Amino acid sequence: MKVDVLLGLQWGDEGKGKIVDVLTPKYDIIARFQGGPNAGHTLEFEGIKHVLHTIPSGIFRNDVLNVVGNGVVIDPVIFNQELDKLRPFNINLKERLLISKKAHLILPTHRLLDAASEAAKGKNKIGSTLKGIGPTYMDKTGRNGLRVGDIFSPNFEKKYRILVEKHENILKHYSNYKYDLSEFEKPWLEAVAKLKELTVIDSEQYLNDALKNGKKILAEGAQGTLLDIDFGTYPFVTSSNTVTAGTCTGLGVAPTKIGSVIGIFKAYCTRVGSGPFPTELHDEDGELIRKEGREFGATTGRPRRCGWIDLPALKYAIMINGVTELSMMKADVLGPFEKIKVCTHYMIDGEKVEYLPYDVTDLEIIPVYEELEGWNCDLTALNSYDDSPRQLKDYVTYLEQNLGVPISVVSVGPDRKQTLSNKVLV
Ligand code: GDP
Ligand code: IMO
Ligand code: MG
Repeated sequence: MKVDVLLGLQWGDEGKGKIVDVLTPKYDIIARFQGGPNAGHTLEFEGIKHVLHTIPSGIFRNDVLNVVGNGVVIDPVIFNQELDKLRPFNINLKERLLISKKAHLILPTHRLLDAASEAAKGKNKIGSTLKGIGPTYMDKTGRNGLRVGDIFSPNFEKKYRILVEKHENILKHYSNYKYDLSEFEKPWLEAVAKLKELTVIDSEQYLNDALKNGKKILAEGAQGTLLDIDFGTYPFVTSSNTVTAGTCTGLGVAPTKIGSVIGIFKAYCTRVGSGPFPTELHDEDGELIRKEGREFGATTGRPRRCGWIDLPALKYAIMINGVTELSMMKADVLGPFEKIKVCTHYMIDGEKVEYLPYDVTDLEIIPVYEELEGWNCDLTALNSYDDSPRQLKDYVTYLEQNLGVPISVVSVGPDRKQTLSNKVLV
């Protein structure tokens, strides 16, 4: 068997949580491979909305196992808050949720370092979610980090103190940054004790055995390709590999074991936090998209920046990820528009450019648009793709032709049921 991958092709919040939940019945295991509580994945069904941060989005479907892979970073306090929210749903978490021993832990001091670093950057700040993601991955690559497996060691508190001391020494360099660690430490250590009650595994072994035994696995990405540490709009990115390759390192599965790659994108584009966004709108069209799409962050509540779809950026993301099929999300949000714009290429210094350039952050990039007919109606009650308006079908066909990959799902609302299948799903 192979591992299918589902990931975001833009700057995150494409609707990954919703589609993972929709696809979960086809799988035995859902596995997160990177990121941590910076993610906010929303699922809606039976009138209830759930936001997951670290727990995979397969958790609400019976009989499916959910693995938090080695590439993920875990904040025990946030993790426990997520578990508490799941309690009313009678999910057997001990059986259905498995955590990699090799996943790294976010310490309270990682969060402080994140905040201090952002404050010091001033107007050049990344716009981090301030969950301690960057400092935790820095300690991982710096070979200082604490991992979930360490919490069972009799020396755990000693290891913790050594790392905190290192962090406090770094924090001294941020002379204007005041903090009080004592209020965070006790809840963190209590949350670590609760983590011990969960099922902790050698996840790479577990997942490879599952594949050998014919189990179907879906890897759930967090963030989006344009936030990837290597291929995103650096330095305005997150600190992990959000692309398909991240599945291999974040779960311990070989590249030869990757099956379908499902790329998720919005029918338009959003970004939260700082950094370049060539098709960003600063006018009433942008305002209308934000209002219709309820574009406010699932983790931080910040308003998301909105703009038209960006084909050069999408083509780039499809190339890097080896996308085999696409899901187009939030088509309903464009309902009020009579005309829809698509960025086909950029003009940079008077030259036509059809890819994302290296210095996307510093160059003046002028997006060039083609205007298409909008469907200009409410799509949220649609039950079948065949019944959808001609203009929507034309938009889908236009994108498929330009992107060279089939769009197998068109989403027309946040609920599980508001999902139209265009072609056969994996
Ligand atoms: P994720 O991080 O990729 O899982 O996406 P988020 O959950 O952060 O953001 C997507 C938002 O759009 C959530 O509030 C979803 O409930 C919502 N959503 C998902 N698909 C659709 C859709 O097709 N239409 C509308 N209107 N909302 C959607
Ligand atoms: P999901 O999985 C959207 C953005 C932050 C910031 C940058 C770095 O819900 O799609 P970090 O906290 O990682 O140091 O922040 O990345 N960011 C996201 N934007 N969706 C996310 O996750 C994000 N996770 C991080 O806003 O610009
Ligand atoms: Mg999100």
